[in-house]
Amino acid sequence: MRRKLIAGNWKMNLTYKESEKLAKEITAKIEQKELNKVDVLLCPTFVSLGIVNKTIKDNDIKLGAQNISYENNGAFTGEVSAEILKSAGCEYVIIGHSERRSYFHESNAVINKKIKKAIEFALKPVFCVGESLIEREDEIYEGIIEKQITEGLTGIDAEQISEIVIAYEPVWAIGTGLNATPDQASQIHSFIRKVIQKLYNEKTANEILILYGGSVNEKNSAEMLSAEGIDGALIGGASLKSDDFAMIVKKAAQIK
Ligand code: 13P
Repeated sequence: MRRKLIAGNWKMNLTYKESEKLAKEITAKIEQKELNKVDVLLCPTFVSLGIVNKTIKDNDIKLGAQNISYENNGAFTGEVSAEILKSAGCEYVIIGHSERRSYFHESNAVINKKIKKAIEFALKPVFCVGESLIEREDEIYEGIIEKQITEGLTGIDAEQISEIVIAYEPVWAIGTGLNATPDQASQIHSFIRKVIQKLYNEKTANEILILYGGSVNEKNSAEMLSAEGIDGALIGGASLKSDDFAMIVKKAAQIK
């Protein structure tokens, strides 16, 4: 039985104090009975991991980072290691977000190294995949997603993959207000499960959590999260508003 996961990716937003305030509001607005039904994850900037951890630590809300170094430690100015993330209270880390792929030129090979490093340190990767608008229009999106998954998971065995969450985020739907329809998302989620089945086995494909991300908000979330094979959401813009984020969690908890 796959338990839904609602994750907020705060991206490069909110100062230290603003992050604390948002975390406090979210903690106050999400009820324990909802946390009994769905997992909730907050991913602030590196700078605010500590204060958000302190704020949420008496709740069942989980903490994640938005990036990780594939190196262990040492002279890598500006990087943050798995061990440091663990020490700040992180349980998850977003890896391979399309913004990192496009603005910071992260290749599938780099993403693969980061996933391996996260797993080595018992951090759960939220491994993002998704096609661009041109790739969708050219109808080559399945091949692109299969390549991202196959190369991103190279050398990761069936046991390790149980620690990984996949997030399908079509690039054309991120921050644009243009979300994929529930049918479009379901179709890709089912395609991703087929790729996982091919790489691993049917059990792994059935068990792996696949989130949808891209313009999810409190209005469209119930329909998205009720669609076949959608196990949760990775939310950008709407995760910065406590009312909206708490409402999305509430709706997710109501889904049978
Ligand atoms: P938006 O929800 O703002 O479209 O962002 C989605 C996303 O990129 C989450 O990682």
